[in-house]
Amino acid sequence: MTAEGEILALDVIEASLATSLIGRASGHANELWPTIDSTNSRAAELASAGAAEGVLVLARQQTAGRGRQGRVWVTPQDAGIAFSVILRPTIPLTRLPLVTLATGTAVARAIESSVGVRLGLKWVNDLVLGGRKVGGILAEMSGPSLIIGIGINVRFSQEDVPEDLQTKIEWLERVVGRPVDPNLIVVALAAELEKSYQALLAGKVDEIVSAWKSYSVTIGKNIESNNGGQILRGKAVDITASGALVVETEDGGKVELHAGEISIRNQDGSYA
Ligand code: BTN
Repeated sequence: MTAEGEILALDVIEASLATSLIGRASGHANELWPTIDSTNSRAAELASAGAAEGVLVLARQQTAGRGRQGRVWVTPQDAGIAFSVILRPTIPLTRLPLVTLATGTAVARAIESSVGVRLGLKWVNDLVLGGRKVGGILAEMSGPSLIIGIGINVRFSQEDVPEDLQTKIEWLERVVGRPVDPNLIVVALAAELEKSYQALLAGKVDEIVSAWKSYSVTIGKNIESNNGGQILRGKAVDITASGALVVETEDGGKVELHAGEISIRNQDGSYA
């Protein structure tokens, strides 16, 4: 334990893993990097070199972490968890968008059991606490492999946070007011992700959607979506079996959003 708290350690994680697939690929080592450009890029590289399903790539720091829609994802040294796993799901393409929702539920359950905090899930990939972003999910196809990348903010210092994100970012230790052990989170996350993945493979669509909805901070809210400059406003009312967000527009019609970003309307009428 350092003065600041526990740091990621692969031996500690591997000794506690209670999974049969994630982190358990026989003959293929999991990786924990002190610093790397992006764990998703490294996992894709390993996958194309033939790494088995289940291999985990973790990092204590990313220098070129990637977020959705080409954004940068910042992981300063020991400030968060950069987690990627190689999967090779054999499911119909129409079910692929559910991967992000199933992963969101897995992260929320893992944080709940290991840290004791209940995250909110904002469609489609945001992990939030008190309206601020505490993590995100980036699921990417790489040939026949699916790379699931998860970033979780654990212990930022205020000076790590860029000026424009000061009121938008959250980290777990600030919320709970005590040190949080990232190894416990990774172990819980591997277990929950494996359960969610099994549900996905078994086609348990209703279970995946209703579990996601139980953590949702999106359903029932007035939202705005911006799809390439096309603005749509309305009330988020449901999630479809393919993971789309159903929005009831002001004229009473219903629109399904399959991709893009949404903002949720605040009480003052602004969107965040
Ligand atoms: C987002 O909210 O836009 C998604 C952020 C995903 C970040 C994670 S950190 C681990 C993995 N490696 C990356 O380069 N990105 C993902």
